Amino acid sequence: MKVTIIGGGGRVGSNAAFALQCGGIVSEIQLLDVDTELAEGEALDLLHGASCLGGQRIYAGDYERAKDSDMFIITAGLRRQPDESRLDLINRNVALFSQILDSLKKEGHKDSAMIFVVSNPVDILTSLAAAFLDLPRGHVLGLGTMLDTIRFRSLIAEALQFPSTQVSALILGEHGDSMVPIWSSATVGGLPLTGVKGCDVSFQNKIFGRTKGSGAEVIRRKGGAGWAVGIAIAEVVHAIALDKRQLLPVSSPQKGCYGIRDISLSVPTILGREGVISHQQIALWPKEEKGLQTSASTLKATMRKVATGV
Ligand code: 2OP
Repeated sequence: MKVTIIGGGGRVGSNAAFALQCGGIVSEIQLLDVDTELAEGEALDLLHGASCLGGQRIYAGDYERAKDSDMFIITAGLRRQPDESRLDLINRNVALFSQILDSLKKEGHKDSAMIFVVSNPVDILTSLAAAFLDLPRGHVLGLGTMLDTIRFRSLIAEALQFPSTQVSALILGEHGDSMVPIWSSATVGGLPLTGVKGCDVSFQNKIFGRTKGSGAEVIRRKGGAGWAVGIAIAEVVHAIALDKRQLLPVSSPQKGCYGIRDISLSVPTILGREGVISHQQIALWPKEEKGLQTSASTLKATMRKVATGV
C-alpha cells in the first residue's frame, strides 16, 4: 500500500510518516509539500532509518509521482493559534484545501484512491473533499475525534493510575469545541470506569476539559501536535491496510446514524479495506446523543458560512 502525505514536510505529516514507518505495514511513503526542500529533508532523514525498520520505500515527490497512491493523507494546513478555535481556522484553510483538491483532480489519482483528511477543521474539510472528489462511497474520511479519543484514554489512565492500554473511552462528534465524551461505555479492563473510586462527576469534567483543551495546550507548549496525532493517523491507516474491520471514532459523511445526515463528524465507524464500511448506532446516554446532535448543528451552521469555492 502506497500512501502520499500531502503536507509531509510539516510536523504532523512527518510524524505520521515516522509512525507509519515504525508500524511497518504500508510499503511506500511519499512526502509531498509546497516546501519541497523540507519534504526532501524529512524523507531523507526517514530513509536513513529504513534499514533498521520496515524497509519501506520513502521519498519526496510531486502530484505527478503521487498519482499511483492508494491513499492520500492530507495534513497540510495553517496552525491554529492557542486562543483560536479550530473552526476559526476554516477560511484560512479552506482556500489552501481547495487548491490541494484541485491539484489532485488535475494531476489524477486512482479511481479507488482513499482520501484521509487530517487538516483542520477536519470535519468541514472531510465534507468538502467528499463533495468535490468523485470517489467510491467510504473512500473519504477524516481523523475526526480519533486523536481526542487516544488523548482521553491516556489522560484518564494517567490520572487514575491504570495502564493506558486497558482504558477504553470514546470521544465522538466534532473534532472541536462541541466534541462529546462517552462515559456510558468507558471501561478499564472491561469494567465500567464510572464504578471506579475517584472517577466521579468532577473528575470526569476535569479530565474531559483537559482532553478538549489538549490541542491548544500542545500548541502553547511546543507549537503544535505531532507524536500523538502521528500515532492516531497510523492506527487508522493500519485498520484500512489490514482490513481489520476495526470500530474507530473517525469522521465521515453521515447518512442517518443517530439521526445525523449531510455533515461529516465522528460516530463509531467500522473501517476496512474499502475505508468506511459502516456506521454503528450503538446506544448512548440521552445526553451523549444530544451532544452529538449539537455537534452536527454546530458544524452545519459553520458549513453554511463557508465560502467553499470547491
Ligand atoms: C489537535 O487537536 C492537530 O487538531 C489537532 O492537536
